[in-house]
Amino acid sequence: MDAIMNDFEISIEAAALNRKRLIEALPDAIIVVEGNDLLTRSGDTHYPFRQNSDFIFLSAFHHPGAALIIHPKGEILFIPEVDQKHLVWLGEAETTKSAKSDYKLRRVCYQGSFEQEFKKLADRYNLCYCAPKLMSKLKKLSSIKMNSKDYRSSLNRLRQYKQEGEIELMKRAANVTSSAHKELMKKLKPGMHEYELQAIFESHLTNEQMCHSFAPIVASGKNASVLHYEKNNQKLKKGQLLLVDAGAEAFGYAADVSRTIPVSGRYSKVQARLYSLVLQAQQKTIDFCRPGVSFADINECCSLSLREGLADMGIIRGSSKGIDKLKPEALFMPHGVSHMLGIDVHDVACFKQKRGEESRAAFKRMELGEDMAITVEPGLYFIKALLEDRKNLKKYSEVIDFKLVDRYKGFGGIRIEDDILITKRGNKVLTYAPKEIEEVEGCMERMT
Ligand code: GLY
Ligand code: MN
Repeated sequence: MDAIMNDFEISIEAAALNRKRLIEALPDAIIVVEGNDLLTRSGDTHYPFRQNSDFIFLSAFHHPGAALIIHPKGEILFIPEVDQKHLVWLGEAETTKSAKSDYKLRRVCYQGSFEQEFKKLADRYNLCYCAPKLMSKLKKLSSIKMNSKDYRSSLNRLRQYKQEGEIELMKRAANVTSSAHKELMKKLKPGMHEYELQAIFESHLTNEQMCHSFAPIVASGKNASVLHYEKNNQKLKKGQLLLVDAGAEAFGYAADVSRTIPVSGRYSKVQARLYSLVLQAQQKTIDFCRPGVSFADINECCSLSLREGLADMGIIRGSSKGIDKLKPEALFMPHGVSHMLGIDVHDVACFKQKRGEESRAAFKRMELGEDMAITVEPGLYFIKALLEDRKNLKKYSEVIDFKLVDRYKGFGGIRIEDDILITKRGNKVLTYAPKEIEEVEGCMERMT
């Protein structure tokens, strides 16, 4: 790839390659994909536009109201023809001519000709792949056979193996995310509010023309025990930890990084001990990630490491009978250690479900493969709702020292998350915000 290509150019090349990959996977057929429309917020205002993820994958076209037909001889992008009102309120939009050249497409038409073009292609081929929600609309236009199951599984399979251009975009999102975390660490001062830290992170992304890949979590003190805390409205106090889970999106491709840092610039002894335990679990899990290892395996690797650490602290009674089955560490980390990463922050994956099997269980059996991107995000939380639950108190009475746990209520939680790319023999860590204790404290030094 040309080193001086910008994100936009890379995304266009990546989408072209993805179309090629898809038509090779689904040959001798037409594939129809619909982009997102603007979503009304209220009255005549809209939510910020976010394109449909499959549409990003196949077109790199980030504007509302578009559709795409891919066929063995090329593709047609359909774009809305804007009226005078649009020009007055929203300005100029792509024309068929500009879009054809900007997006390097075989053909671009206005939406008005979709029916006619679709019918023409439907007469030439025997099969049409599309999402289920498009089927009824297309069936009214043609009697061509439709298939949505293979459409979904093919897209999931392709989306889960990142090609060069996609990896480059993910690296750029990872770079900006890493430096935004670092910037936040440098600027944090006790007495600031969670939203002020969010604003520092956000302004870093905006300066790089990127946006959040999901609603940021900026959680101080006990708020960090809420896994998807999004209120971000509390004042930071000395002695607390601050958990920040946030990421940038580069032309649709996400990063997702968590750091847990001391508000006063130095981890207390207890904080450092618990933090080191999570960091060690993360390092062991990252080292373990390579092709052929399943999500169940990496969860197990993380669990065992956390268990060992919690046993050293006396929170878990490590030699208890039945501990392997009970997995008491799960009470302190009630989420998986990893998820796929890509155009969606929790990206799609292709795995087979056995009859009656839950998708989560089937996903865990799935093995990592070269060019998959995933997160590794162990955590340790003291969640009142779980630690005071009567069923849990009974179930774990022999293996958890709940009296000792009482001391940590109100502690909050710790999560350390990085993004990794699975390589031929192992993996490459894409994100690099400070996370070793000395690194974090060094970064925050000027404020102590
Ligand atoms: N970063 C949020 C999550 O992975 O759920
Ligand atoms: Mn994540």
